[in-house]
Amino acid sequence: MTEPLLSIQNLRLTAQTDRGTASILRGIDLTVERGRILGIVGESGSGKSSLVSTIMGLLSPGLNAEGSVKLDGVDLLTLGSSKMQALRGNKIAMIFQDPMTALNPVFRVGTQLVDVVRNRYPGVSREEAVKRASDALVKVGLSDPERRMKDYPGQLSGGMRQRVMIAMALLCQPDILIADEPTTALDATIEAQIIDLLRRLRNEFSGSIIFISHNLGTVLQLCDEVAVMYGGHLVELGAVRDVLAQPLHPYSRALIGCEIDDQPLDVPLAFIPGKVPETVDNPPGCIFAPRCNYAAEVCTRVMPPLRAFEGQLAACARLEDIT
Ligand SMILES: Nc1ncnc2c1ncn2[C@@H]1O[C@H](COP(=O)(O)OP(=O)(O)OP(=O)(O)O)[C@@H](O)[C@H]1O
Ligand SMILES: [Mg+2]
Repeated sequence: MTEPLLSIQNLRLTAQTDRGTASILRGIDLTVERGRILGIVGESGSGKSSLVSTIMGLLSPGLNAEGSVKLDGVDLLTLGSSKMQALRGNKIAMIFQDPMTALNPVFRVGTQLVDVVRNRYPGVSREEAVKRASDALVKVGLSDPERRMKDYPGQLSGGMRQRVMIAMALLCQPDILIADEPTTALDATIEAQIIDLLRRLRNEFSGSIIFISHNLGTVLQLCDEVAVMYGGHLVELGAVRDVLAQPLHPYSRALIGCEIDDQPLDVPLAFIPGKVPETVDNPPGCIFAPRCNYAAEVCTRVMPPLRAFEGQLAACARLEDIT
């Protein structure tokens, strides 16, 4: 059996705050196989961005990560900042919600794309790098690549900038591409175009993709597996069609609803009464129990671990009783 590309074990992320220790990730176990696309969903504040920032080694000062995050067997948590920096834009790359965070406004688009190629493949000539950059712009649907290469990022629309980010990812061929809500800042039509583009290009990526989204239709269209996060825990994991069609965990059920087939594809996540737990609170039982319609006495004792049930994994003590 080959080792998964990314293997996360008992990942905990904490921060010291005025109100005490904040537990942002409370013990995440997750693997990402080679060439697969994993979607991550969950309400705002559930820890999705914190999880991918930890994988990227981009934690703000004061945050402390424990556990392990192994990429190809190498633990990224112990790697040190200079080695981690060398991995970014090389083995791991990221597409942000706002592409301007990753594009430098004072350099032309072409210069930045050529730099990506030459950092990743130092032996490549300048001429070849320019050609690859221009080809990548065509692949992501930007016409007139010569002109686009001369533009500064500020001269492009939001949708065009996101296409440039995808071109960068194609050029650097990372082992893992992380996309944290890459289309939230775009209007619905452009969002649909970008998702369609990612779908068409998926065969051009040899690596895996982690895709965070609030939009279930998008996750269904793009991803192979989906992970549902709540309060710093992973509460459900499975094949995207299975989880969206038949969510097992009460939180996933509330979030996803059971009628995905009847809904238009741009449905946002459902609204669930109550609010996400505070990171500084450490309730003894299941993290979702206070909002759960199915909660019973057993749920007040410990947070249940993820366990296999009907082909999916879910962290609920009452799966047998409620399905
Ligand atoms: N540096 C920090 N110090 C303390 N708490 C933090 C820090 N960074 C994040 N948090 C807390 O961690 C929790 C998870 O935040 P995170 O941004 O990962 O959520 P998210 O799932 O990405 O939400 P969204 O959908 O809104 O992007 C939040 O409660 C946030 O306030
Ligand atoms: Mg986020």
